[in-house]
Amino acid sequence: MTDAVFQRCIHPHCGHTTDLHDTTFQCAKCGGLYDVAYDWNRLPAPTSFKHFEAKWANRTDPLDFSGVWRFRDLFPFAPPDRIMTIGEGQTLLQKADQVGKHVGMKPGNLFLQYEGMNPSGSFKDNGMTAAFTHAQMVGARRAACASTGNTSASLAIYCAATNLMRAVIFIGSGKISYGKLSQALDYGALTVQIAGDFDDALRRVQEVSKQLGIYLVNSINPFRLEGQKSVMYRILEAMRWEVPDWIVVPGGNLGNVSAFGKAFFELKELGLIDRMPRLALINAAGADTFYQLYEKNGVRWNGGKPDSGKINAYMKYLDDADRRADTLASAIEINRPVNLPKALRSMERCGGYVREVTDQEILDAKAKIGAGGFGCEPASAASVAGLLKLVKEGVISPDERVACVLTGHVLKDSDATVAYHTADPATFEAKLGKRGVRRASYANRAVQVPNDLSEIVKAIELFA
Ligand code: F0G
Repeated sequence: MTDAVFQRCIHPHCGHTTDLHDTTFQCAKCGGLYDVAYDWNRLPAPTSFKHFEAKWANRTDPLDFSGVWRFRDLFPFAPPDRIMTIGEGQTLLQKADQVGKHVGMKPGNLFLQYEGMNPSGSFKDNGMTAAFTHAQMVGARRAACASTGNTSASLAIYCAATNLMRAVIFIGSGKISYGKLSQALDYGALTVQIAGDFDDALRRVQEVSKQLGIYLVNSINPFRLEGQKSVMYRILEAMRWEVPDWIVVPGGNLGNVSAFGKAFFELKELGLIDRMPRLALINAAGADTFYQLYEKNGVRWNGGKPDSGKINAYMKYLDDADRRADTLASAIEINRPVNLPKALRSMERCGGYVREVTDQEILDAKAKIGAGGFGCEPASAASVAGLLKLVKEGVISPDERVACVLTGHVLKDSDATVAYHTADPATFEAKLGKRGVRRASYANRAVQVPNDLSEIVKAIELFA
């Protein structure tokens, strides 16, 4: 390639490159995934984090206001006048001592990065602003995704806010929470409900996009991941540019863990950090392909040649047994993660662990996160549930500094939250019990009182 920014196959033995404007998102030579690649010798690479601090004083410029684009010099693929921002990335890293106590961390060592504060209520906006910018650069008129709900909400809001493209979203029928479905409908996306799950929808959206020439924004799109790198930049910024010991993140399609690893290995390459954090990726037990492959079958990146025999055998087993992903954490109800190879690469370069957590563990962690003054949807709570496990195992020490990413807003799936806290056994059973959740150990039940002043006063005096 002669351009300073291009796309490159992630497998070093292939290394095929293609133009920045290519929208196939699949290596033309070996079928692998592409990275967005930068020739830093020909680009004005930032030499110090001070460079980004200088942007804080310039918040009237929407690009410097955006928590994604103020770091644009670390993913300089778009001319500034083509960037599409809706104010994403105003998210916070906060010390979470109450949650830290629950998981066994020392005070001051657990931080939660609440990505639910994005415009569409999840971390997806970090990547969508980047993919949407690229879509606009290549002149797309329609953009599509398959989704468990958050990617679709995010695509839909960018289309609605800019009126530049039509959003076409594919969802598994009955597979997304109402909070997320309501967003796609309200933002005016063409919503295609497929009789199947996310894995089916993703397969179909790829076929349809190819056939109709629609721009694809699923995380197979490497520009999405460029934007998602900014979650890590914000964590570093909040930690005064000190690298935490661990990043803990839930895993579905494995875009985050892929993007986070890339963020850190690029910062190291640029000499901006001198060590890598370790990554802990947490699967839901009902959708645990990465856990099975990485921890149980020992599949590794292996210099870009992961053991395809083992991976294919596992996928065949899923097919033969018709084993479908099944978890209450519907955002990560995915059995065929498209970013598997990139995730393996991140795990190798950063060093990492993969764990699986049950729906019970997820919901209990979620209640503790809420009670700690945060809040998130079930999938996000997998990170804290996984941290609890890793601290108990002694893998993560209470003395280490840990940042857990809370990926989605507490209001995304209020049905699950209400069912957990309900005093009505039928409501609990209908949503949670029949999926294997046995108890709500940290439930905060509403108090039933007659419509009578003295009874109400009595109840308050008794409970508060
Ligand atoms: N947490 C939430 C709230 C999500 O919505 C997702 C993915 C993940 C975690 C997993 O992230 O794919 O990067 O490993 N949601 C996608 C969607 C699949 O369609 O909204 P990942």
